[in-house]
Amino acid sequence: MTKIAIVYHSGFGHTKILAEAVADGAATVAGSSVHLIAVDEVEAKADILDAADAIIFGSPTYMGSASAKFKEFMEWSSKIWYVRGWADKLAAGFTASASQSGDKLNVLIQMAVFAAQHGMVWVGANLLPGNNTSKGSPEDLNRLGSYLGAMAQNNADQGPEGVTTADHQTARHLGQRVAEAAVRWSAGK
Ligand SMILES: Cc1cc2nc3c(=O)[nH]c(=O)nc-3n(C[C@H](O)[C@H](O)[C@H](O)COP(=O)(O)O)c2cc1C
Repeated sequence: MTKIAIVYHSGFGHTKILAEAVADGAATVAGSSVHLIAVDEVEAKADILDAADAIIFGSPTYMGSASAKFKEFMEWSSKIWYVRGWADKLAAGFTASASQSGDKLNVLIQMAVFAAQHGMVWVGANLLPGNNTSKGSPEDLNRLGSYLGAMAQNNADQGPEGVTTADHQTARHLGQRVAEAAVRWSAGK
């Protein structure tokens, strides 16, 4: 089995819904087993991360940055960094914010740099941008036009039920893409 782990933090449930969508997408790929891990479980589930072929990172965008809880996880992982424990695993990321931009890109860049520090191999979304022509719509896949990972925008006055179908589907696509890549990646080892 190809093992996909999704490590996420979610303060108010939006990123959790996206993490579940990423997991659903990854689970559609034959031969993959998927583990959803909240950041406060990583210590107890470190062996799952050790064994994973791919780790997908999820964090809300807080103050233009990954959340403090997610950064705590990043710093916790320095002991794994030191022994190159995650080197050559695939990596990818997703984030949610309230504003259309909200500086989400900064969070995906933080995750990609983090993955590079670990010697991981970053996998982008491989989706053309949606909603950027006169025929486009907010219902399009990748409606926020991100290449580095999956982005979602939720209105600040709505709970997790405000996660749009388009963003849900975009997150699902990322999970599927990473799982497909991981099956090929692990077959070549
Ligand atoms: C402390 C804090 C900081 C935030 N900073 C931003 C921000 O920089 N840009 C933005 O667009 N939204 C920002 N938001 C809104 C969240 O990104 C948004 O509500 C997101 O969906 C929360 O995800 P979660 O429910 O998984 O925590 C912030 C929210 C909080 C609580």
